[in-house]
Amino acid sequence: MKTGKLTRRQVITTASAGFFGAMINIPFKSIGISNNLQQKKLAINGGEKTHIGSWPQWPEWDRSAEQGIIEMFRSGRWWRGNGEYVAEFEKKYAELMGAKHCVATSSGTTALITSLEVMGVDAGDEVLVSPYTFIATYNAIFAHKALPVFVDTDPETFLMNPKKIEERITDRTVAIVPVHIYGLPVDMDSVNKVAKSHNLKVVEDACQAWLAEYKGKRTGTLGDLGCFSFQNSKNLPAGEGGAIVGNEDSLMDRCHAVHNCGRPYGSMKTAPGYPYRGGNFRMQQSQALVLMSQMKRIEKDNDIRLANALYLDKKLKAIPGIIPYKLADGATRAVYHLYPFRYIKEEFNNVPKNKFMRALSAEGIPCTGGYGKQNKDGLFEEAFNSRGYKRLFSEARIKQWRDENHLPGNDQLCDQAVAFLQSMLLGSTKDMDDIVNAITKIYENRDSLVG
Ligand SMILES: Cc1ncc(COP(=O)(O)O)c(C=O)c1O
Repeated sequence: MKTGKLTRRQVITTASAGFFGAMINIPFKSIGISNNLQQKKLAINGGEKTHIGSWPQWPEWDRSAEQGIIEMFRSGRWWRGNGEYVAEFEKKYAELMGAKHCVATSSGTTALITSLEVMGVDAGDEVLVSPYTFIATYNAIFAHKALPVFVDTDPETFLMNPKKIEERITDRTVAIVPVHIYGLPVDMDSVNKVAKSHNLKVVEDACQAWLAEYKGKRTGTLGDLGCFSFQNSKNLPAGEGGAIVGNEDSLMDRCHAVHNCGRPYGSMKTAPGYPYRGGNFRMQQSQALVLMSQMKRIEKDNDIRLANALYLDKKLKAIPGIIPYKLADGATRAVYHLYPFRYIKEEFNNVPKNKFMRALSAEGIPCTGGYGKQNKDGLFEEAFNSRGYKRLFSEARIKQWRDENHLPGNDQLCDQAVAFLQSMLLGSTKDMDDIVNAITKIYENRDSLVG
């Protein structure tokens, strides 16, 4: 893997310099990146690429995990029922998060399903959720035969707009699921305030936000329960895996029970038999061992990603039509599962986003267009037309849902968003300069993309 050549101290210095630099509006020409790039032909039109060579690969295997994994497999103790590693991981992860407890799960999706169950989400209930997220967030709500109700996105922050929550609450709403998408922390005080005044539960989807901070506290520890994913692409990867963190003993005992077939746990242990419903959402011993080896690097990696992200913020915001994400009020540390910005095509002679992205990829800078307008995808109509949802929700309620399914902030964001993968942020300063130079080159040569 390529890493930045900064020491930890330099990273922190660069990061804070970048943070304050990001607040200053630096004129486009003054950042020294426009070296007659208009004279260079774009790679998509047959010119030379800006970035030659590869980007850091992800995930990266840690050989120190191998001995323990082989021994565990040879011992036959492959599952948490007769092994120690899942419990050891839970203890370490809770400590890392600054939470009292952690329950490890098979995935982020099963962490969300378990948490919503424990929060009392039931068939026919409604759950407020951000539309700008991976589809698993809604699927976890559907798994309970509840109705996902969208709160519009603030296109500047990429996050649920807390000012839009209240208008979507009905007498069936039981919970809010804010999503710290791309590792950008949601303004949790505002979310919790609305939740408290309407007696709603808060399950944070922190599946992309390991060690992000809001007012100095880790995301996932700010609502009633917080959920994480350790799927292969994630900044803390294990192929598959998930976790729930929380501070309340009885809730976390319930999470343990629900994720383990309903077996009573902790304070519930005296109950005979299987008094609760549950599923098998357990993490495997091998996943826990991989995670403990990957956990050793996450803080250092986050420092490098942060330093590079702040460097990009400062340089990219000087290019007309490129607007990096804005941190929400109270966010004190983002962790960048992706690095996102908005592309304003009007500043690029109306070159469509897809064409801009193709031109950027041709320059050797891979990028993604982020999430689509999933609130208009078929899965909602599929659910509404199912026998179960027809029994649970009146025609009038579904009509109201459809009438309210206009999310201008989210639509705008889906049209404008572009993002780089977290692994690219583990590159060198030269790599970051290549990103800036490639976008600058496209801007300077935007006319050649028209038509
Ligand atoms: C925001 C978000 N929520 C939930 C999930 C679900 O996690 P998993 O894939 O581990 O089930 C993911 C994973 O990609 C995610 O990014």
